[in-house]
Amino acid sequence: MKILFVDGTIVGRKTGAVLQIVQDYIEQTGCGFELELVDLAQYDHQFVDGRPAKDYNEDMQQLIKKFEEADGYVLASPIFQGSIPGVLKNTFDLLHPHTMRYKPVSIVANGGTYQHHLVVENQLKPILDYFRCLVTPNYVYTHADHFDQQNNIIDEGVHDRLRELARVFVQYAEMSKRLSKNAIDQDE
Ligand SMILES: Cc1cc2nc3c(=O)[nH]c(=O)nc-3n(C[C@H](O)[C@H](O)[C@H](O)COP(=O)(O)O)c2cc1C
Repeated sequence: MKILFVDGTIVGRKTGAVLQIVQDYIEQTGCGFELELVDLAQYDHQFVDGRPAKDYNEDMQQLIKKFEEADGYVLASPIFQGSIPGVLKNTFDLLHPHTMRYKPVSIVANGGTYQHHLVVENQLKPILDYFRCLVTPNYVYTHADHFDQQNNIIDEGVHDRLRELARVFVQYAEMSKRLSKNAIDQDE
């Protein structure tokens, strides 16, 4: 299975640091999945305006292709203004609604305040529900206090939660294999 690790921001380093740890923990499960990073900071973004996919630039078309070819996703989002970054929402807007259907998704998020962890529940999960993703019941929210100056995660509780996230994600990925195969093409 091909799993995409999406760093959903063009600024900041903590989400990328957390993604790397999740990647390590997923590898340590021995699942053998193919893991690939998509760092939105490396792409030349255009605002999504409903034009045909072929009329976007090469980077946007690459993004569509990577999301379509993936069998699952680990999404990392910082909290911006009590929400997800515009560039991440713009990337979701780019995708056909079937792109992530019945595919496993795990979420990690980082904010400057503890109070904003519910952004995941109230804003990110509803978008993934729209896509009919298999969102794992656990997600991990981090805060500046969990990192050292080099953005290493120094909080053992966070490591435990990320290890558990990796374990559950792999199980969801296995479950999704049967689901996707039998998917009925419904638009509603
Ligand atoms: C434009 C902007 C808005 C932000 N808004 C919030 C916010 O509403 N809530 C919050 O917890 N953190 C907020 N932050 C902090 C970011 O979530 C934090 O900088 C990010 O997770 C990445 O951390 P890093 O830059 O140290 O890597 C904001 C940061 C920026 C740049």
